[in-house]
Amino acid sequence: MQIVETGPDDERFAAWCEVWAATQLADHPDEAPRPASDHVALGRRLTTPGGAVQGTHRAGIAGGTVVGALRLLLPVRDNTAVAYLDVAVHPAHRRRGVGTALLAEGVRLARAAGRSSLVAEVDEPGAGVAGSAFARHHGWACDLRETRRDLLLPVDEERLSVLESEAVAASAGYEVLTWRDRTPDALLEDRALLSRRMSTDTPNGDVPVGEEDWDAARVREQETVALDRGRTVLSAGALHDGRLVAFTDLHVPLAQPERADQSGTLVLPEHRGHRLGARVKIAVLRELAADVPQVRRISTYNSDTNRPMVAVNEALGFRRAGGLSTWSTRLRPGT
Ligand SMILES: CC(C)(COP(=O)(O)OP(=O)(O)OC[C@H]1O[C@@H](n2cnc3c(N)ncnc32)[C@H](O)[C@@H]1OP(=O)(O)O)[C@@H](O)C(=O)NCCC(=O)NCCS
Repeated sequence: MQIVETGPDDERFAAWCEVWAATQLADHPDEAPRPASDHVALGRRLTTPGGAVQGTHRAGIAGGTVVGALRLLLPVRDNTAVAYLDVAVHPAHRRRGVGTALLAEGVRLARAAGRSSLVAEVDEPGAGVAGSAFARHHGWACDLRETRRDLLLPVDEERLSVLESEAVAASAGYEVLTWRDRTPDALLEDRALLSRRMSTDTPNGDVPVGEEDWDAARVREQETVALDRGRTVLSAGALHDGRLVAFTDLHVPLAQPERADQSGTLVLPEHRGHRLGARVKIAVLRELAADVPQVRRISTYNSDTNRPMVAVNEALGFRRAGGLSTWSTRLRPGT
């Protein structure tokens, strides 16, 4: 097998994307895989200088066919000792060493970029998935286990109203507002702080990733990336004395709106205990029902140690639907 560089504007990239689509379909036969356009937009962002995260792509080719895909993401504003690795092998070409060869290439590239830790996520729709066995085989450590929970829409209105009244009663003095795709200018600095806190306050197990460096420009960069990837982002926030103290984001892929992904939700520590998490999530659910009623399911991932967030999600009706594990390895110099 040969490993070659590829990228969003390369003729091989469609086949590279197809490896991901086939992998996702094998794991989730009833869900539409991410469209190639999403990988292309992300790839362009990663390969354009100036962004908070840079990246590179490789294709594993056997007999003229792309059989494996590697993407390496390199944070440049923070966590500069870490590289994130995405690797997939087409289901028809597994257990022949393709994944191992791509992993070795990822290690080489990460070292060349001066990184000392590699981090990868494994989607676990059920027990005993290949990715975990593969990571264990290569001596990686499992640093975090998260449970996926799905909410089927529409949510029962009675359940939502009861939760909403309780949350409103518990959060007097807070105002809730919603926006779509673009954070209001006046809230941008506060929103950046909330992203910074997301990177430290969310239970992250032993994943060797530290605080992220967010400012207003990075929030705008993230918004642009989401739009470029064909997503619309519905957000809600809670204001206290004019400052944004809580937020939640929901990403809807517009080409396949049946399934949306819950992105971050955070309440600043000094404002916890007022049901603001539930309030902002309910506000977004109401926006979603009004603006993008095609969404039938929302997926969210939480560490089981994140009891407050899991409690909010279960009260809303989210139910277990698989898992996600995060693995890492340290790269010792010269090995
Ligand atoms: C994980 C993945 C990349 C492995 O690709 P691959 O080309 O089949 O991997 P390799 O042939 O190099 O396997 C190396 C070793 O990993 C272990 N392994 C890989 N797949 C396994 C499976 N399904 N069950 C048990 N062990 C497995 C074995 O020890 C294997 O060695 P062996 O075949 O000699 O027993 C592939 O299954 C895949 O694309 N999965 C979905 C995406 C994913 O989870 N990526 C992993 C991110 S870390």
